[in-house]
Amino acid sequence: MATINRGAVTTPFVPAAATGGVRAPALIVKGRAASDGAGVKLYRVIGGPSLPDLDPFLMLDEFRSDKGADYIAGFPDHPHRGFETVTYMLAGRMRHGDNQGNTGLLRSGSVQWMTAGRGIVHSEMPEQEDGLMWGFQLWVNLPAKDKMTAPRYQDIEPEAIPQATPPGGATVRVIAGEVAGKHGPVTAVATEPTYLDVAVPPGARFEHALPEPHAGFVYVFDGALAVGGETVRRGELAVLGPGKRVVLSAGGEAGRAILVAGKPLNEPIAKYGPFVMNTEMEIVQAIRDYQAGKF
Ligand code: CO
Repeated sequence: MATINRGAVTTPFVPAAATGGVRAPALIVKGRAASDGAGVKLYRVIGGPSLPDLDPFLMLDEFRSDKGADYIAGFPDHPHRGFETVTYMLAGRMRHGDNQGNTGLLRSGSVQWMTAGRGIVHSEMPEQEDGLMWGFQLWVNLPAKDKMTAPRYQDIEPEAIPQATPPGGATVRVIAGEVAGKHGPVTAVATEPTYLDVAVPPGARFEHALPEPHAGFVYVFDGALAVGGETVRRGELAVLGPGKRVVLSAGGEAGRAILVAGKPLNEPIAKYGPFVMNTEMEIVQAIRDYQAGKF
């Protein structure tokens, strides 16, 4: 496929007109090492130079380390306004708490879909000093009309995430969206997201329909997968091009990926650290409100 561009991209992804058929990668990018919170080492895939954003997705980080020093400092109190943070834990334990008295433990296999809305101040701190800590944080934008909505949590225990086994041999944890009659527990999100954890054994295949206008990506976090016929390896993200469905297949090696899609907002973005609004004035207001203790 001659149109694949591996490397830096400066233009945001815009879904092209419907062409039908399989959504092949429009772009395949790698992330790069970054540090956030009080010094947590992570791998930034969306929100870095190779893919600044993928409307409605603002950021995707993978954190994966079995060295306590890489994560022990955690993410002490920090604010958010104007978007959603989605944490999916593959391994490890993270304690969440906020300034409104909410607290919870994110453990292996759980998901927290947090709608920051008009503002929260929270912390995410590891509840272990060693051993593997592995997972993802995805930032999902909110439409202008919802940016000042009341904060909301969807804390999903591992047991509440259904496992689908569609024809083709893959196993799919359905966090948001629907696969083979299993519905993900995350609901009522403005961007109508799909969020699937897809494990494809050697020789197996997974086919999934996505709404044509939705932007989507496949991030391979173990092994390798063919995405619409293009090989995507661990640590690489394929931005899905136009089409009606995505096809993931594994050759001699198993692969595991998150498949995420959502409705683009096509609205202006004004971003300053943990505040994502539509205008600079709204950013100034967010900083003032935070400093005045109004979150
Ligand atoms: Co946060």
